[in-house]
Amino acid sequence: MSNKRVLTGDRPTGKLHIGHYFGSLKSRVELQNEFETYILIADVQALTDNFNNPEKVRKNVREVLIDYLSCGIDPEKSTIYIQSMIPETAELTVFYSNLVTIARLERNPTVKTELAQKKEVFGDSVTYGFLGYPVSQAADITIMDGTIVPAGEDQEPLIEQCREIVRKFNSIYGDVLREPEILLSERKRIKGLDGNEKMGKSLGNAIYISDSPEEITKKVMSAVTDPNRIKKDDLGNPDVCMVAYYHNLFSTPEECKAVCEECKQGQRGCVACKKQLANNIIEFLRPMREKREYYESHPEIVDKILKEGTKKAREEAKKNIARIKKAMKLNYFEGEQYDRF
Ligand code: TRP
Ligand code: SF4
Repeated sequence: MSNKRVLTGDRPTGKLHIGHYFGSLKSRVELQNEFETYILIADVQALTDNFNNPEKVRKNVREVLIDYLSCGIDPEKSTIYIQSMIPETAELTVFYSNLVTIARLERNPTVKTELAQKKEVFGDSVTYGFLGYPVSQAADITIMDGTIVPAGEDQEPLIEQCREIVRKFNSIYGDVLREPEILLSERKRIKGLDGNEKMGKSLGNAIYISDSPEEITKKVMSAVTDPNRIKKDDLGNPDVCMVAYYHNLFSTPEECKAVCEECKQGQRGCVACKKQLANNIIEFLRPMREKREYYESHPEIVDKILKEGTKKAREEAKKNIARIKKAMKLNYFEGEQYDRF
């Protein structure tokens, strides 16, 4: 195994959907075989824009974990942990906050985009916590000595800011931190059932990993198809149809070819086409749904995974905060029992 370490995570604000699966979970399942992997459930970061809804964040910590396990993230290979239970991250965030200007945070494109989407939470005056979350994310990564951050394009400015903090830290306090790199997911964002560029809970256009066969069928039946096709023998254009788009993700190459040709020639009914797609999605998600049912009925196993992962991550964080504090000359009683109370 290389000395590189994967660090990534998600905000627990809802169940994960197939956009998450193709965008990140699938590649994590492969990466965990190659690299030491840490995955955090970012409850503190989720609170930055859900501070008034702690119940939602709490509930989704376990939902996200179960989604991870259902998709094949293996707790024997990946250390999965709860962000708020690593107090060293908060300490490091404070240290880093001296190395970042407010102007730089305000210019961060991810922060800007998210603020524009979150007008109902922040209005025109952003909180200190939200503006500063890139600093805390830099601490998430470096407190675990993460060097590879698999993430989507939207996370790029956050990783860039983390790299800047690392360089600044090292230039002042010595060469202690490793600069992480983003590993961009190969697949672009998956569109929603309604044709929206983004699949998301708030948009109501997502298929969840946990959806039942009935829910999947219902959602697929309501997907946006070629609007110019009214009767079966109207010639269709699969390029503007979300059902054809999803066939490309879930159906065999032969099926996709048939969908395309028969649609163009007016030989395929949309209802049958959707039913075929729904069945393929149901089959694709079946093993995940079965695993999910298993973990849902064994909450003690879910909790054990969270406790053990968090304990291991905490050990790692303690090791790294000691190195960092030493570099910052904050190691007053090193080696004594009072080093850390
Ligand atoms: N910002 C990520 C998201 O919105 C979650 C996250 C928190 C994260 N800390 C991280 C991702 C550290 C990668 C590395 O999904
Ligand atoms: Fe879309 Fe299939 Fe209807 Fe063609 S036949 S418009 S691909 S649902």
